[in-house]
Amino acid sequence: TKRVRTRDLQLAKDNGERWAMLTSYDQYTAGIFDAAGIPVLLVGDSASNNVFGHSTTLPVTVDELIPLTRAVVKATQRALVVADLPFGSYELNAEQAFNTSVRFMKEAEAHAVKLEGGRKRAGQIRALVDAGIPVMAHIGFTPQSEHTMGGYRVQGRGEAGADILADAYAVQEAGAFAVVMEMVPGDVAARVTKELHIPTVGIGAGADCDAQVLVWQDMVGLRSGPMPRFVKRYADMASVLENAAKTYAEEVRGGQFPTIEHTF
Ligand code: KIV
Ligand code: NA
Repeated sequence: TKRVRTRDLQLAKDNGERWAMLTSYDQYTAGIFDAAGIPVLLVGDSASNNVFGHSTTLPVTVDELIPLTRAVVKATQRALVVADLPFGSYELNAEQAFNTSVRFMKEAEAHAVKLEGGRKRAGQIRALVDAGIPVMAHIGFTPQSEHTMGGYRVQGRGEAGADILADAYAVQEAGAFAVVMEMVPGDVAARVTKELHIPTVGIGAGADCDAQVLVWQDMVGLRSGPMPRFVKRYADMASVLENAAKTYAEEVRGGQFPTIEHTF
């Protein structure tokens, strides 16, 4: 099997083919999603919430994300694995972004990095691309800036749509191979997708993006509680696991497990 390359994603856009991206933070989901044909896996800083149990993406560190990224790379044969740069590891300047990205590329053997910000991060994107590191940009709502943005809210409504467009052009110009748009009105995302030549990846950005991304635990219903409107649940894994755990515990209590076949 051949690895998916950024070039293949560009060809998909040129041919009008859409694709789906998922997060992954461990070997089993990575292997399953890879076998399912998901072409791009993101080791998101959303591991902060979805693996480490924090309430925002801010606390997770490079040292915590590198082993998760390495596991996802090792468990896949085909997917292009994107490493998300966590809060505090790239914003200062190009040198900081370079040093962090090199760690993901060398220690985890990631195939690309992702960072948040449009016009503000164009310098970092350019420096990484010049160093041979493919960059996926992320504009619209950027969770690492939630304290500046005033919480989870749609970005680019009304006149602010022009800011989204300016950010999109800036990251394309800086050399990003794709751009995630999070919580952006559908008509704004559609316009960006039409005007840019690089692929757009939507999350809460409507149906007209070139690709979509979801957090895997949201996609399979592992996370419970109130879910953002842009999430669709394709399974009810929370129930599957809860029922399995209950049945196992019952069988242990009742003496139905283990039996002779489980015994040496
Ligand atoms: O960290 C993450 O999961 C992300 C995606 C939602 C795009 O950045
Ligand atoms: Na992220």
